[in-house]
Amino acid sequence: MLYNEYLCLDKILSAQRLLSAEYNNEIHDEHLFIITHQAYELWFKQIIFELDSVKALFSSEFNSYDASNKFSSNHSITKQDNGVSYILKESNTLEILRRLNRIVLILKLLVDQVTILETMTPLDFMAFRDYLCPASGFQSLQFRLLENKLGVKREHRVKYNQSYMRIFGRDPKAIEAIKRSEEEHSLSILVQKWLTRTPGLEAHDFDFWGKYKRSVEKMLTEQEQAAHKQPKQQIKEHLLANLRSRQAIFETIFNESLHNALVSRGERKFSYDALQGAIMITLYRDEPRFNQPHQILMTLMDIDSLITKWRYNHVIMVQRMIGSQQLGTGGSSGYHYLKSTLSDRYKIFLDLFNLSTFLIPRHMIPPLTKQMKIKLSIAWSDWNSEDYQNKVGDSL
Ligand code: HEM
Repeated sequence: MLYNEYLCLDKILSAQRLLSAEYNNEIHDEHLFIITHQAYELWFKQIIFELDSVKALFSSEFNSYDASNKFSSNHSITKQDNGVSYILKESNTLEILRRLNRIVLILKLLVDQVTILETMTPLDFMAFRDYLCPASGFQSLQFRLLENKLGVKREHRVKYNQSYMRIFGRDPKAIEAIKRSEEEHSLSILVQKWLTRTPGLEAHDFDFWGKYKRSVEKMLTEQEQAAHKQPKQQIKEHLLANLRSRQAIFETIFNESLHNALVSRGERKFSYDALQGAIMITLYRDEPRFNQPHQILMTLMDIDSLITKWRYNHVIMVQRMIGSQQLGTGGSSGYHYLKSTLSDRYKIFLDLFNLSTFLIPRHMIPPLTKQMKIKLSIAWSDWNSEDYQNKVGDSL
C-alpha cells in the first residue's frame, strides 16, 4: 500500500474545483477559499469522531453495574441509586479527558485558521463570490451535527436557524443525520447524568447540599453583619444592596422551582442535581478522586470558549469581507445573524462558567467526614472494605 493510495490523495487533491476558472475568470484566492473550507470540514469530522467516542465512554458508565456492590481499585465516583451502584471506571475518565483535550487543541487550530483566510482581500472575494451563491457555511451539516452532539438545543437557536428543512430539505440523509443527533443523548446530557452521581450528594449520607447551604447562609449573615458595621451610609447601602442581590442569586440554586424556571428560559442549562455535583467537584477538586472530574469540567469550558471564539473570529472576518449590510450567500442577514449567535444561548456548559458566582471561601467549605475523605482518596485494592477503612480512617 503506497502513501497516495492509503490517504486517497487522488480524491482529496483533485477536489478543488475553482468556479471562477470554469467561468474563464480565474481568481487566484478562490483556491485558498476552497482549501480552507475543506480543511475545516476535515477537522470537523475528526472532532465528531472524538466526540462520539467520548459520548460512548460516558454512556458505558450507565451500564456499569457491580452486582456485588463492592468497588474495585479502578473504580471511582459512585452513588447508590435504588440499590444499584453506578460506577465510573477510572481508566475511562483518563481516556475521556485525553480525547476532550484533543478536541480543545483542534479547536484552537480552527480559531487561528480564520486568519489565513483573512489574507484574501474583500475585492478578491467579491470577484468570485457570485459564482458560489447560494452555497454557504450555513449548509455545513457537520457543523450542525457538532453543535447538536455537544448539546445545542433547537429551541435555543436563533429563530432563523431553527428550521433544518429549509436548508437540508432536499437531502434526506442530512435530515436523518440531524434528527438522530437531536434525539441521541448529547454530551451535555451525559455529563449531567454523570454529575448527578457525584458521591457525597446523598442527603442521607454526607449531604453536601445541606451542608453547603448552611455555609452559604453563614457567609451571607457574616457579610450582612459586616455591612451594618460600616460607618459610611453610602457604602453601607451599596454593600447591603449587593448582599441582597447575592442572596437572590443563591436562592435560585437552593429553590428547585426557581432553578427550573431559569432552565426553561435557557438561562441555566444544567439540571438541579447536576449543578450540585459540579459545585461539589469544584469545591473539593484537591481531593484525589475529584482531580480528573474537575479537569473534565475545565476542558468542557475550554470547548465552549473556543467555539465562541471561532464564532467571533468568523463574524469579524465576515464583516471585513462583506460588511454589515449585505445578505449572506445562504440567505441570512449575514453579519447581524452571525453576531446574534455569539450570545450565551449557544453556550452548552454555561453553568460551569457561572459556577464562580457560587464559590465560598476555602475556610467555609464544609469539612469532609472520615468516610468521605476515604471515598475521595487514591485507589486502593479494596478501599471500601471495613479493614481498609479502619486502617486509613485511623490515620486521618
Ligand atoms: C470569506 C469567508 C467567509 C465568509 C464571507 C462567510 C460568510 C458567512 C455568512 C454570511 C454566514 C451566515 C449564513 C449565510 O447567510 O450565508 C456564514 C455562516 C457560516 N459559515 Fe461562513 N463565511 C466565510 C468563511 C467560512 C469558513 C472558512 C467556514 C469554515 C467552515 C465557515 C463556516 C460557516 C458556518 C459553520 C456557518 C454557520 C454558522 C451558524 O449558523 O451559526 N465560513 N458564513
